[in-house]
Amino acid sequence: MARLHSLCFALFCLSSRGLAGVIPDSSSLIDSLLEVAGQYIPPLDYVPHPVGVPYTIQNYSVAPWVGSPNTHSSDTTVGVSGNTETCAGLTSGSSKFWYEAIAHNGESSYLDSAYKPNYKVFRNVVTDYGADNTGTRDASAAIQAAIKAGSSNGPDRSSKSMGSTGQPAMVYLPGGTYLMENSIQMYIGTVIVGDPTNPPVLKASSSIPNDHIVYAKDPNFGGTVNFYIGIKNIVIDSTNVAATQKIALLDWTVSQATQLTNVVFKMPQGSTGHTGLTTQYDYNSNVILNDLHFIGGAIGMDLSGQQWVFKNLTFSGTTTGVIAGGTNIVFVGCHFEGGTTGIDASSTSGSLTVIDTTGSNMGTLVSTTDSGTAGNSIILENIQNSGNTASFSGVVQVAGDVPETWVHGDLYNSGDTTVKYVGGQTVHTPRTSALLSGNNYFLMRPPNYEDYSVDQFINIKSVTGLPVYGDGVTDDTQNINSILSQYAGCKIIYFPAGTYIVTDTISVPAGSRIVGDAYASAISAVGGNFYNANAPTTMVKVGNVGDVGVAQINDMLFTVADVLQGCKLVEVNIAGASPGDVGLWNSHFRIGGAAGSKVETNCAGTPDSCKAAWGLLHLTSSSSVYIENMWGWTADHDLDGSHGQTISTGRGLLVEATRGTWLVGTAFEHHTLYQYNFENAANVFSALQQSETPYWQGPGNDLAPAPWTDDLGSSDPDWSNCAATDSLCRMALFERIRGSSNLFLYGGCVWTFFNNNGGCNGDCEQNAIRVQSSRGLYLFGTNTKSVTNIFLDDDLVVATETQNAGGWGAVVAAYLYDT
Ligand SMILES: *[C@@H]1O[C@H](CO)[C@@H](O)[C@H](O)[C@H]1NC(C)=O
Ligand SMILES: *[C@@H]1O[C@H](CO)[C@@H](O)[C@H](O)[C@H]1NC(C)=O
Repeated sequence: MARLHSLCFALFCLSSRGLAGVIPDSSSLIDSLLEVAGQYIPPLDYVPHPVGVPYTIQNYSVAPWVGSPNTHSSDTTVGVSGNTETCAGLTSGSSKFWYEAIAHNGESSYLDSAYKPNYKVFRNVVTDYGADNTGTRDASAAIQAAIKAGSSNGPDRSSKSMGSTGQPAMVYLPGGTYLMENSIQMYIGTVIVGDPTNPPVLKASSSIPNDHIVYAKDPNFGGTVNFYIGIKNIVIDSTNVAATQKIALLDWTVSQATQLTNVVFKMPQGSTGHTGLTTQYDYNSNVILNDLHFIGGAIGMDLSGQQWVFKNLTFSGTTTGVIAGGTNIVFVGCHFEGGTTGIDASSTSGSLTVIDTTGSNMGTLVSTTDSGTAGNSIILENIQNSGNTASFSGVVQVAGDVPETWVHGDLYNSGDTTVKYVGGQTVHTPRTSALLSGNNYFLMRPPNYEDYSVDQFINIKSVTGLPVYGDGVTDDTQNINSILSQYAGCKIIYFPAGTYIVTDTISVPAGSRIVGDAYASAISAVGGNFYNANAPTTMVKVGNVGDVGVAQINDMLFTVADVLQGCKLVEVNIAGASPGDVGLWNSHFRIGGAAGSKVETNCAGTPDSCKAAWGLLHLTSSSSVYIENMWGWTADHDLDGSHGQTISTGRGLLVEATRGTWLVGTAFEHHTLYQYNFENAANVFSALQQSETPYWQGPGNDLAPAPWTDDLGSSDPDWSNCAATDSLCRMALFERIRGSSNLFLYGGCVWTFFNNNGGCNGDCEQNAIRVQSSRGLYLFGTNTKSVTNIFLDDDLVVATETQNAGGWGAVVAAYLYDT
């Protein structure tokens, strides 16, 4: 195993220098921990992340939370109410990808004004940087120049001067072939996007000197703080490189709020040296990789990290599809054809869940070793395969199709609190029709809207008479609402990069489709409308109760510019007529930790002095929504400097929806009362839920529900099951399920790293999941770290970490509740 340069985990890192004093001889300790039983087990000692990425060329005097935000009153009198444009809906048919054609006037809102006007978010590698897209001359230098450029009169993007959020770059590749005589290096904030109608090909030259074609991880920082990086709609091609040469097409040592989608990895058939994707440069905490195609090659993906869901990946003629080094891994809707091994799970320490997946002409679909313990849990469900479906150390356990759920690991039967270790038991999982497309759970790729030409789009910053600034200081509430209302059902709305300050609710009506520039188009709340913790105001309200229609949100970020205990960031009320009509893709939440928010700079004190938001996302009972790739994060450290962050956000995700909810690759972290709350919810499919407690919580600090004790609502847990002074009981639940039915939750995990900001191992928290008055719950692949009890059935302890030891702490392969 390569020696790590830094010790990184979850959401923080330390250089090995910084660690000297804390753990003697840390690197050998780390190496030995990582190699336990040949499995990838993350390092076990932690201290909170001390500092963030410096943001030295920031305009510190821009403070939207001071006084009233700018109002351009003369401009905002032109408000339009109601849908005044008559339209027959969107017209499809396009000759050019709209994103290439539309005006790009995004900005980095908090850059020093000496540089801000000269910083361009959007870069077309051909027209702005002269990249050759005919495949005849080297294009790598031009693409690298496009990636690296900062403001024309300022430092470049490798300079560590613009924080994590101050240097967004949309690097656009028109169709064509780009000869790569060299590799390209990405930095935090980079999104490479190709034309989906004619995906650009990065074609490695036969003499490429490096071991990778694309390096995604910003080399300046640890893997677990590599956020806000994306690649979509491209082909990476190594077929000109000798099939025996050791080369990887992409290294993806990155973490939450990243996106890798619609990428083809084209490798020589029968290659012995080529790997599509590695994560070899550090520890990392990914959430989802989706809609990828691996062709040929020796290995599709060679992974070591914390957790993943892999959705709609296809492997064609790849000898080993995936070396799945990690703790909690889910495959959904994947296809393996013509390889020796589909998934090599011998280094999956916790649970491997494979559902709605096919194999054809494969040697073995899933190959692993059997630990004989709760670790290495395997869950297979709805698999079509013609040969060996699962084998342990070469001994076939399952062959052919797996129509029902096949469970290997610790199982809790309905109504039974005794753990049963099963070597391969079949469980009936009656999926509900609201969630399905055929027999499979409905899945959908993130829309590119490539069927619509640029005249079907509105740039929200370019509407005559309705100026919207997105500049991090101006109150854009009224004109955003006017534009959304006027164009609902008629146009797709593009939010160029920038921070859109709002002082009241933004209403997203039925008929809306919204696209941002990934990770940099932020809606950010300020002001007195968001102060009442007992009657929160919603910042972005998607549809009204009872609406049925379309509402799609892509590549947006939701945040708060001030400490707003009465702000509910997003509420979804609308249902789609069909699955996927209502959805959020690659859209994320951030509370604190970044420039442009008082939460970043003024929350180094106690949690009660920083009740920064009521909660992040509420799916109300009339909603039905498809959510894919979402990180709901209350900052545990600063991304743009080194301010301390002790933030108390009330709630993570509240689901009251009953008509069909899809959660594909979500993470909610560091919220005070709960990360996930299913209250009277029904018909929910989830593939991977990742979570962590607030680092400040635990003995010695506020006991839950403090500091929200006076603000609890009927859907909140009240900790009445805990003694008043029981500090391990009074911590955030990973998940609470009450009055709910037909929940199908695959691959959940909660990692508890700290008590009161200090390292903790063993019993660091009492309860992970509490279930009350529910029926028809199917939880497959639940992983915990340092939590005493995994499941409570009301007050009754059903499963403990001790009884289910394995993985990073404990693993329960199947928990069946009133089924
Ligand atoms: C900072 O922003 C303020 C408000 O927009 C502006 O007036 C000032 O000139 C800026 N200063 C710098 C150094 O960027
Ligand atoms: C799966 O991914 C491929 C490649 O991106 C895409 O063409 C296809 O539409 C996706 N399938 C689904 C069901 O989304």
